Amino acid sequence: MNNNDYIIRLETEKDYHTVETLAREAFWNLSVPGCSEHLFMHALRQHKAFIPELDYVLEKDGEILASVMYSESELVDESGCRRTVLTMGPLCVLPDHQRCGYGKALLEYTFAKAVEMGYDAVINFGNPDNYVARGYKSCRKYNICFEGDFFPAALLVKELKEGAFDGRKWFYYQNDADAICDDEAAVEEYDKLFPPKVKAWQPSQEEFYIHSHSAIVRE
Ligand SMILES: CC(C)(COP(=O)(O)OP(=O)(O)OC[C@H]1O[C@@H](n2cnc3c(N)ncnc32)[C@H](O)[C@@H]1OP(=O)(O)O)[C@@H](O)C(=O)NCCC(=O)NCCS
Repeated sequence: MNNNDYIIRLETEKDYHTVETLAREAFWNLSVPGCSEHLFMHALRQHKAFIPELDYVLEKDGEILASVMYSESELVDESGCRRTVLTMGPLCVLPDHQRCGYGKALLEYTFAKAVEMGYDAVINFGNPDNYVARGYKSCRKYNICFEGDFFPAALLVKELKEGAFDGRKWFYYQNDADAICDDEAAVEEYDKLFPPKVKAWQPSQEEFYIHSHSAIVRE
C-alpha cells in the first residue's frame, strides 16, 4: 500500500535486524526493565504458528517506522471443539514517531488482509488504551477466557467478521512462540547483538503490572 506519505509492505529477511532494533527501542523499559520483544520476533519468525503473509512493516522515506506480526492460536469450547484465531503482536512504532497514526494504519491494513485470508478474529494481550479505538473489546464480552474461567482485563478480542462468536464459552490457548522470553539468559545473550542500553524502572511498568494481573469479574 502506498499513500504517497508512507508504504506498508511485507517484511523481508534484510529487514530483520532493523525491525528487531525498532522493537527494542519501542519496548525498552516499557513493561519491565529492558525488554525481550526483539528475541520474541526472532523466535516467532521460525515458529510453526507464525504467519509470514501478515508480517508487515511501515516505511517512510526509506526508514522502517513500524512493524506488526501475527501468529495462529487456538480456542477450544467446553465440548472440545477447536478453532483457529489470530494472535496479534508484537506491534511497535519507533518512539519518535508514535501517536502519528502509524500503528492504526498498520493494524487496519493487516486486519483487511487477514479477512481476505479467511480469519474471523484477532486476540491479543495488551493495554486496552491502545486497542479499543480499533474495535477491540474485552474478552468477557465474547465469553473467551483462560483455563479456570479467568477473564484477564488485558485479553482483548477483535471480531474481523461480525458475529464471529455465538456466546458459547471458549478457552484461549495462545501458541508458545514467546516461551523463550522466559529464559533470562537467552534474552541477555540475544541482547548482545544490539548496542548497549540502560535498564531502568519507569511508571509504565507498574501500569503493565496492573493491567496484566487484573481480571473482569462481572459482566
Ligand atoms: C502502541 C503503539 C503500537 C500505537 O501505535 P501509534 O502509532 O503510536 O498509535 P496511533 O497514532 O496509530 O494511535 C492509535 C490509537 O492510540 C490512541 N492514541 C493516539 N494518540 C494518543 C495519545 N496522545 N494518548 C493516548 N492515546 C492515544 C488512540 O486510541 C488511537 O486511535 P484513534 O486515533 O483511532 O483514536 C505504539 O505507540 C508503540 O509502539 N508503543 C510501544 C510498544 C507497545 O506498547 N506496543 C503495543 C503492545 S500492547
